[in-house]
Amino acid sequence: MKSRWQLNWRLLSMVMALALVLTGCGRENLSALVPKGPVAEQQLFLMVLTSAIMIGVFLIVMIIFAYVLIRYRQRPGQTGIPKQVEGNHKLEILWTVIPFLLLIVMAVPTVAIAFDLAKEYNNKEAVQVNVTAHQFWWEFEYPDLGVRTAQELVIPAGKKVQFHVTSADVIHAFWIPALGGKIDTNPGLTNKIWLEAKEPGTYYGKCAELCGASHALMDFKVQALEASAFDDWAKKMKAATEAPAATATGTAAQGREIFQKSCIGCHAIGSEGGKLGPNLTNFGERKLVAGIKPNDAQHLAEWLKNPQEVKPGNTMPNLNLQDDQVSALVEYLHSLKVTQ
Ligand code: CUA
Repeated sequence: MKSRWQLNWRLLSMVMALALVLTGCGRENLSALVPKGPVAEQQLFLMVLTSAIMIGVFLIVMIIFAYVLIRYRQRPGQTGIPKQVEGNHKLEILWTVIPFLLLIVMAVPTVAIAFDLAKEYNNKEAVQVNVTAHQFWWEFEYPDLGVRTAQELVIPAGKKVQFHVTSADVIHAFWIPALGGKIDTNPGLTNKIWLEAKEPGTYYGKCAELCGASHALMDFKVQALEASAFDDWAKKMKAATEAPAATATGTAAQGREIFQKSCIGCHAIGSEGGKLGPNLTNFGERKLVAGIKPNDAQHLAEWLKNPQEVKPGNTMPNLNLQDDQVSALVEYLHSLKVTQ
């Protein structure tokens, strides 16, 4: 018996140690608890306020509970049922009024902040971005700037950005924890949300609604640039969208041929090509392949050879490419640079 208890304790302490270690897991700039913009800050304030009240209520109730258990326990020699008490107006009023007051303390700032945030939902001054969620990637269109991109959202720091979010297939949710959110993307409907990054930097976004086999891999990157750098980016992207670079040399030229034959039906470069897959105009300067792997030759080749293995359930078919075709495509896709 003793050894089994010892084993259980060892297991329990291992699990607890592991839990402690795992609490340190997490990616930089992917936490609602470390806000990087005004929306996330206000939302964190509400989370802290309501959590503090809940923890306070829990502790007080538990302390009273423990006190009563110990103080009024059955003592040696005590027999029979204790004196029965029923009804106490004062106490009943007290424990009705206290939760009522606590709910008011939570409701007033919650409603005020919700309405305050909603005021900005039709801000014409804000940078407008149309977001379309797909299984399992993100499309970003800047209607006023003539720019269309995917997977890597670029925004100006210190400015409000108004998102109009929808979905091309199932329900997803658009969430950039460090900046605020989240909001559902529903097929056939457009929801609105605005966010702002205070400082230039890299943030990460995730899909926050179970949407299929690769829901957990439906990540995107957010790059907040200084306002002038953003304007520069937008200008170059617009130019590249209107007139995508048509020149490629050496191996990249072979890659371009394969792309024109096998990929362009689904993927556009600039305004040329299909819209079923991510737009690849500036693919060569993106940091990630498929939103999750480093955008280097090895990971891009793995993706091209077997997309289903990297992101199960996605809609990209396996083109059964030969190794030399893959290398040519890698060369070509990495040559697609707009701002460098
Ligand atoms: Cu898209 Cu989960």
